[in-house]
Amino acid sequence: MKFLKTAGAVALLVASQFTHAQDWPTKSLTWIVPFAAGGPTDAMARDIADKVSRQIGQPIIIENTPGAGGTIGAAKAAKARADGYTFLVGHLGYMGAGPALYKKLNYDPVKDFEAVFRFPDTPLVMLVGKSSPYKSAGDLIAAAKAQPGKINFSNAGVGSTSHLIAALFAAKAGIDVTQVAYKGAAPAINDLIGGQVDAMFDQTNTALPQVQGGRLNAIALTSLTAMPQQFPSVAPLAEKALPGFEAATWYGLYAPKSTSKDVVQKMHQAYLKALTDKAWTTRMVGQGIQLLPEAQYAPDVFAKYTAAEVERWRKVVNDAKIQLD
Ligand code: MLT
Repeated sequence: MKFLKTAGAVALLVASQFTHAQDWPTKSLTWIVPFAAGGPTDAMARDIADKVSRQIGQPIIIENTPGAGGTIGAAKAAKARADGYTFLVGHLGYMGAGPALYKKLNYDPVKDFEAVFRFPDTPLVMLVGKSSPYKSAGDLIAAAKAQPGKINFSNAGVGSTSHLIAALFAAKAGIDVTQVAYKGAAPAINDLIGGQVDAMFDQTNTALPQVQGGRLNAIALTSLTAMPQQFPSVAPLAEKALPGFEAATWYGLYAPKSTSKDVVQKMHQAYLKALTDKAWTTRMVGQGIQLLPEAQYAPDVFAKYTAAEVERWRKVVNDAKIQLD
């Protein structure tokens, strides 16, 4: 009898959770962005949140939780209630390279999260100040070879994309550069504009307005092919300075482990519906953002991709001897 009562209670609990997921969402959602406002992760998150929010009929609040290259915000999201109202905007740094970079990480990108959907990818561009003597990646490499360690690269935090790509670039070019970490790309860009640092890799979506506004010069792209519309006469690194070099940031949305599959599916469907807005996707492409085949946005495909990226970055970090210093 006692067993029956307990079983009944479990059944009731399951039923109430199911109803809860069916009603979802009944209030606003929070997306944790683990970098300062105004950077590329924040810009992508706000843009996509705005479109998804219209589909699900509830506001999405962006919570900027910067620090330690995104790992502070990711750890917070991993510990959040899996109730379908808290999500993490993740990227290749803290959700891909993190386990290879940090001896002790307070979360596991694969085991502690449900992948919800992948965002489009964003290549990066190497930026220098307006009065910089470097007009190409070749100029900068030559200067770094002449005076090892003299060139400073600002980045969005240790383990951020800007940090990792600058480290990869230096490793492939065989040069020694000094990295200066900030709490996001926005403050790192400000110091580049102010002339406190020499160069930075930033994602095309936030770099473009700075270049078009005449505040910074773009001298190289990490995409394999040129972007004549967005960055006229800027050469890909692969074209001359570093044949075969290619890099882009991947981003995506994650939920704490055990978030209902129903919620994950509803979020993914809302995102796919939002992506049918051609005016929006055309605007993204105009910012250098690369749309992906639809299948790659799916939760299960994105979960597998995350796991594969964690393994790939172990090798990249090892081969390029990227160290957190
Ligand atoms: C990065 O380099 O990881 C991003 O640019 C961080 C940011 O969005 O500020």
